[in-house]
Amino acid sequence: PWNVDRAAAIIAGHARREGATLPILHALQETFGYVDREAVPLIAEALNLSRAEVHGCLTFYHDFRSEPAGRHTVKLCRAEACQAVGADALHDEVLHRYDVAWHGTTRDGRVTVEPVFCLGLCACGPAALVDGAPVGRLDLDALEDALTEAAA
Ligand code: FES
Repeated sequence: PWNVDRAAAIIAGHARREGATLPILHALQETFGYVDREAVPLIAEALNLSRAEVHGCLTFYHDFRSEPAGRHTVKLCRAEACQAVGADALHDEVLHRYDVAWHGTTRDGRVTVEPVFCLGLCACGPAALVDGAPVGRLDLDALEDALTEAAA
């Protein structure tokens, strides 16, 4: 869980480096799984930046999460070969069914949905990773099955 003292120590450890914002954000995310909003003023103060600059950096890179991820992560392939077999329409259905936006987490904290670009499963698209396990020929039922399996 997020710990402000630990976060402050991490920030202090990197603060002297040139261009420390990104290394700090990476280190925080690695440690806590996300970068809590509380970190923004701490980083700004340590690096003598405005809060807006730090916030801009945090939100520009989609790799950083500003809240903990869900218990399961679904990565949906948005690259060409999957698109050619209907991934876009499927993704709309998935986002609608789970009531999330890209990078979002369902309200119950169960599932986070992320886009990826080619998983090397192009021959059996639409492709996805569910908690790191590849799933091909994805549809809503297959996704729900994979999630149930991941929870087991
Ligand atoms: Fe989707 Fe390659 S394009 S796995």
